[in-house]
Amino acid sequence: MSGDPFFATSDPCWLASALRHPVRERTVDVLGDGPLTRTVAGELEAIGAQRVSRSLRPGSDVVFGTIDALREAGVDPSAVAALTERCVDITGEGFVLHAVGETLYVTANGGRGLLYGFFRLLREPLLGDGWDAGLEIVESPVRPIRMLDHWDNMNADGPMGSVERGYAGPSIFFRDGRIVADTGRLVDYARLLASIGINAVAINNVNVHATEARLLVDHLADLTDVAAVFRRYGIALFVSVDFAAPLQVGGLATADPAAPAVQAWWAELTALVYRAIPDFGGYVVKADSEGRPGPFAYGRGHADGANLLARALRPFDGTLFWRCFVYDSQQDWRDRSTDRARAAHDHFAPLDGTFDDNVVLQVKAGPMDFQVREPVSPLLGALEATNLVVEMQITQEYTGHQIDLFYLPRTWEEVLRFDLDGPEAPPGGERTVAAVTASPDGARRVGMVAVSNVGVDPSWTGHPLAQANLYGFGRLAWSNEVSSSEILDEWIRLTFDVPDPEARALHEVIWQSPVVYEEYTAPLGVGWMVTPHVHYGPSVDGYEYSRWGTYHFADHAGIGVDRTVATGTGFAGQYAPGWADCYESPERCPDELLLFFHHVPYGHVLHSGSTVLQHIYDSHFRGVERVEAMVRTWGSLRGSVPAAVHAEVASRLDRQLVNARDWRDQVCTYFYRSSGIPDERGRRIY
Ligand code: GCU
Repeated sequence: MSGDPFFATSDPCWLASALRHPVRERTVDVLGDGPLTRTVAGELEAIGAQRVSRSLRPGSDVVFGTIDALREAGVDPSAVAALTERCVDITGEGFVLHAVGETLYVTANGGRGLLYGFFRLLREPLLGDGWDAGLEIVESPVRPIRMLDHWDNMNADGPMGSVERGYAGPSIFFRDGRIVADTGRLVDYARLLASIGINAVAINNVNVHATEARLLVDHLADLTDVAAVFRRYGIALFVSVDFAAPLQVGGLATADPAAPAVQAWWAELTALVYRAIPDFGGYVVKADSEGRPGPFAYGRGHADGANLLARALRPFDGTLFWRCFVYDSQQDWRDRSTDRARAAHDHFAPLDGTFDDNVVLQVKAGPMDFQVREPVSPLLGALEATNLVVEMQITQEYTGHQIDLFYLPRTWEEVLRFDLDGPEAPPGGERTVAAVTASPDGARRVGMVAVSNVGVDPSWTGHPLAQANLYGFGRLAWSNEVSSSEILDEWIRLTFDVPDPEARALHEVIWQSPVVYEEYTAPLGVGWMVTPHVHYGPSVDGYEYSRWGTYHFADHAGIGVDRTVATGTGFAGQYAPGWADCYESPERCPDELLLFFHHVPYGHVLHSGSTVLQHIYDSHFRGVERVEAMVRTWGSLRGSVPAAVHAEVASRLDRQLVNARDWRDQVCTYFYRSSGIPDERGRRIY
């Protein structure tokens, strides 16, 4: 099988650091025999720890065990008392790292917490002979749901499973029309995800095609094997299901949520699944969206549809994710009254409070679709009596296909810090996206979900530096305390063993990448100037006369979408008053979102002092210059990062530069030709 990436040994990513962690040289006792405790022992072995014991020895350097296991093994009662005190405040997923005397204890209330504590220790650079006697880290995840959605298909044209919007090769789960659970890759993947706190994975595309609609029926044994691998790493398995499965798979005459036969079909199927996989996570559903079937066909609403499936999952405490990416995808571009940006809020805000408590509404971070710049979805502020997760996209559909570098956590952090109550909400009363997706005591089913960027590429993510996006998603989903810039430093330190100056250069290149990409692509929040369907490279009018509701309305005089309440589609009015007022006014609207909310003449003066048109010219030229600088900086890192990584990134940066120049020249030329207004600085426009 050598040479076949599906089975090949893969890049350890940030866990590269584990292979040089000082804990490998210490005496380590792992106490207790729960399944996740056994995983910790196995992981210690995997990183090359030499002096591991499964029982308590006097004077060991590090002791792992749940608090019960420490007590049972006879750990010094005063140490147990000190640790127990610290465990009071953590959830079942939290952990305590605490040094008592010469011994460092890693403990938790349960197995998952212990596993996360183990990976936390691996991030701690324990230097010299011992650790700081006062070392104390007490952590619980702020979000109970930290999930990845794979848009993986079982059936590709060839033997490999394809990945919708995947840029890192075919699926790691599917091959030859079946699920393959016995690859080392699956274990390596579960380990990587556990190390960043991911606790749920949906393995198949939200667009459920005919083959995958039969997953639970025809492939339950294989799913059971995948669940067994995930279980060892504290990850719950989810499956995307087809709302019409009772018809398509069950042979019923209807999929109507009100039909008792449909309810019974889902209940029976679900019971069967739980018999095989008792800790199965639940279902993900994309319904009445982009042609997928849903409850509308039967005159029912989203709550009827979601509650139908939630009730089948209820006896097993399973969770139902219902996506809110619902809009009219058959729009006529001549119709100026329909606004796709409004759709999710229009559909779901009135339903707040009508969903069962094991339903989670899955809301994309922006109102459109993962564009480089969008406002935060107003729906996130409108669901006060419903569980919700915010959905991010790690796979770089609109952000450069993992050819162009784009450090996504920086943009996610902006979303998380957005205060849904307005720009001037009183301090302390913040209702940020970070806050509404958090439940520190774990009581509410809320959190963060993201579309995975992983495939069988040996680096997992195609672009080696896109590993930082996967890492950063896990870290942001876990904590509201850590910034995306700190996460980047952490990732660099763990992934590359480089001295400070090189680490700083790496930080600089990666950190600025989203700003640079935004500069050379679609301006001022307007979005969508991409090659249709593919979504890489420029096509200014590519979506202008299409059915997708994605228009910029540029003509000889101006550009942008009027989404005001006064004269436009009224989208701005979906926000809390502070934001509604801000977005309604072209004077107050932030520059970067101006064209999302307003149609303005090219001569409109931005807060920056530049006109809209001059900004378009300047930002596009600047963007390309900055990619050129990135290429140079990366060149200077030759010899500092592994040669293969250096070469791979260098070749992608070369392609990025070609792409950036294309964007610059097409966008600048388009606006010069339509406006007739030259660049103040006389640069070359075609
Ligand atoms: C985008 C994307 C699709 C995907 C959809 C979704 O439209 O292009 O490939 O299916 O989002 O999130 O459901």
